Amino acid sequence: MSMNIKDILNKMTIEEKIGQLLQLIPSFYKEASEGEITGPLKAAKLDEKILWNTGSVLGIANAEDMIEIQKKYMENNRHKIPLIFMADVIHGYRTIFPVPLGLSCSWNISLVKKTAEIAAKEAALSGVQVTFSPMVDLVRDPRWGRVMESTGEDTYLNSLFAKAMVEGYQGNLNEECNIAACVKHFAAYGAPEGGREYNTVDISNRNLRENHLPAYKAGVDAGAEMVMTSFNIIDGVPSTCNSKLLRDILRSEWGFDGVVISDWTSVDELINHGVAEDGREAAKKAMEAGVDIEMMSINYVNNLKSLIEDGEISEKLIDDAVLRILSLKNKLGLFENPFRSSSIKESEETCCCEEHLKIAREAAGSSMVLLKNDGVLPLNKERKIALIGPFADEKNILGPWSIYGKPEETVSVLEGFLEKLPKERIIRVKGCDVASQDTSLFKDAIAAAEKADVIVLALGEEESMSGEAGSRADIRLPGVQEKLIHTLSKLNKPMVIVMFNGRPLEITGWYQEASAILEAWFPGTEGGHAVADILFGDRNPSGRLSMSFPYSVGQVPVYYNHFNTGRPYVKGENSRYSSKYLDIPNEPLYPFGYGLGYSEFEYSDLELSSEYMSKGESIRAFLMLKNIGEMEGIETVQLYLRDVAADVARPVKELKAFKQIRLKAGEEKRVEFEIDEEMLKYHDLQGNFKAQKGKFILSVGGDSSKVLWKSFKLI
Ligand code: BGC
Repeated sequence: MSMNIKDILNKMTIEEKIGQLLQLIPSFYKEASEGEITGPLKAAKLDEKILWNTGSVLGIANAEDMIEIQKKYMENNRHKIPLIFMADVIHGYRTIFPVPLGLSCSWNISLVKKTAEIAAKEAALSGVQVTFSPMVDLVRDPRWGRVMESTGEDTYLNSLFAKAMVEGYQGNLNEECNIAACVKHFAAYGAPEGGREYNTVDISNRNLRENHLPAYKAGVDAGAEMVMTSFNIIDGVPSTCNSKLLRDILRSEWGFDGVVISDWTSVDELINHGVAEDGREAAKKAMEAGVDIEMMSINYVNNLKSLIEDGEISEKLIDDAVLRILSLKNKLGLFENPFRSSSIKESEETCCCEEHLKIAREAAGSSMVLLKNDGVLPLNKERKIALIGPFADEKNILGPWSIYGKPEETVSVLEGFLEKLPKERIIRVKGCDVASQDTSLFKDAIAAAEKADVIVLALGEEESMSGEAGSRADIRLPGVQEKLIHTLSKLNKPMVIVMFNGRPLEITGWYQEASAILEAWFPGTEGGHAVADILFGDRNPSGRLSMSFPYSVGQVPVYYNHFNTGRPYVKGENSRYSSKYLDIPNEPLYPFGYGLGYSEFEYSDLELSSEYMSKGESIRAFLMLKNIGEMEGIETVQLYLRDVAADVARPVKELKAFKQIRLKAGEEKRVEFEIDEEMLKYHDLQGNFKAQKGKFILSVGGDSSKVLWKSFKLI
C-alpha cells in the first residue's frame, strides 16, 4: 500500500513543507534528545521545532542510531512523515572495496555492480536509504584529490560504471536491501583549474557535452532517484543555481523527475561565489533553479516563507520539491515502515560476512594494475623476503571515503603474506613514515634487505592526501619514500614496489630502479590478501589503468583522447615547431588502458567485414588474440575509433568498446566487435548529436597506445 502524498501535502503548513527541504546531520537529533540546545542547534540558530519538520538526515552511523532518531521523530512529526536517511556509501559500507578509481581499473562492469549491491545491502540493514554515490565526474588532473572517487578519464567507461552502480544500489528499489542512488556532482566538478579543490571550472559547451555530461546522463537513464549539484561554477554560474543545467538539461532534456540535492552548504556558498548578496537571494536562486533539498545550510528554512509572502517565488515551486521528496520516501516504503530494513542484529550478521569478503578480495585483486615487471614476479614462495615500508603492515588502506569501514577488520600486506608463507621467510620493517622527513629507520631497512633475496617495498600516500580537499601540486611519493627506494636500490637486489594511493602518482624519478611495480590503490578490507595473491602468482593481474600516469606533473592534464593539433609531434621527426615539450615527452609514463599480466597476449589479423558502412547499418571487426604466456589470464581487448575529418576537430582516438577475454596458456580466440553508427556520433556545430560521412580509423589493442588499425568509410 502506498500513501497518497498529495493528500499529505495539502494538509501541510508552509513551515512543514519547507522543513522537508532541509537536510541535517544526526548530531542535531542527538542533541535534542539529550535535552540541551548547546551544540550544532544553537550554533545554527535553529529552533527545536524545525527538527521535527526536517525532511532528511545525512551520515547516520548505524542501525541503532537510525532507529532511535526515527522513533523520536515519528512521535513528534504531526503528519507522521518519516525522515529519510542518506549517507556517503561510496565503495562499500562496512565491507570496503577498492576506491572507485581502483574499481574502475578492473574494467569489470558486472563485478562493480556486485560491489554496489553488497554496499546497498549492508547499508540498508544499517539504517541507510540513500547513498550519495555514484560520483561520476570525469577527471583528467591527478592533482585533484577526488580523482580517487571517480572512475577515471574516459566518458564511455564512466558511463558504463555510472549505470552499473546505480543498478547495483537500486535494484528494483522494492527490495528492502536496495537503496536509492544519487548521481553526483552535477556537473563537471572533476575539471577544476589547476586541480585545486573547489576551484573554477571553465570549459566549452562542446567539452561539457562530449566528455562530462554523458556519465551523469547514464546514471539518470539507469533510474537514479537523486542528483547532487556540484560546488563549482561553469561559465560563471554555480551549479547550485544553474537552471540551464538543472532545469533545461537535467529535467527537460533528460526527463529526470527525481530529487535534486545541493552539496554540503553549496546554497550558502552562492554568496561567496558572488551571485547572491545574502541567504535570501541564495535561497531564491537555488529554489528557482530546481534544488529540492538544501544540505546543511539553512537558507531555505530562513527565507522561503517570506519569499513566498512577498510574491518573489511561487509556492508551487516548493510544492513540487516536497512532492518529489515525499514520493521518494513513498517509493522506499518508509510510510509503511519508517525503519525499513534497519536491524541491529541483521546488520551485524551481514556486514563483512564471508560472502562479502570474498567479493572484496576479488574486487581488490581485479583493480590492481601491474605497471612494470622485469620477471621478478610472481615471487617464489621459497625465497626470503624483506617486506619494508610504511604500508608493509598498515591497515589504513581503506581509502578516505570509507567512513563505516573498520581498519581492525582489514587485512594488511603482512597478514596477506602470512597466509601464504611461514613467518621465518619474512623480515618486516617500516623503513620510514609516509610523510615525515626522518631517515633514521633506513638502517633497519638496509639490514633487512641485506638478509633477504627479494625486497618488497610497500609505499604510498596517507589516506587524507587524496579525497575531498586532498589536492596536491607535487604528486610524487611524499616524505622520504623516494629516498628509501634510491637507498635500497644500491643493494642490487630485486625490488618490488607496491603502491597504496588515491591518484596516479609521478613516479618517473624512480621507476627504473624497481624490478616490478604494482599499483594497489586503496584496496579496501581484503587489500593485503589481494596483494599477496598477485605477488605470489595465485592470481594473474588483469587491471588496466582508467587514468593515465603522467610522466611529469608538468604535462597535466594528460589524457589519451586528446586532439591532434595543427602541428602534431611525430616521433623521430625533429621539428622544433611541433606541439611538444622541449624537456619531456608528450606521452604519459603509462597510458590509459595499460596494465601488465603474467601472460602476454598477441594481437593479429585485424579485419573488417566491410570498408564501407552505410548510414543506419553496422560493420564488424575481427581479430585473433592468443595467450603466448604460460599462465591462464584475462586480456582486456580495447576498441578505439577516430573520426578523421569532421566539421569540428575530433579526438585522436576514443574508446568505444572493449571485451575481457580469458584464455588458457597457448589458447587462441577470434574476437569480434560490432561497430554501428551510434559509435561514430558527436555534437556537430549546430549541437546535433550525429555521425558525419567520411573516413574513420578503427584501432584495437591491449592499451590506448599499442594498436592494430584499419580504416573504413561511413557513406
Ligand atoms: C561532498 C559530497 C558528499 C557530501 C555529504 C560533500 O562535502 O562533496 O560528495 O556527498 O559532502 O557528505
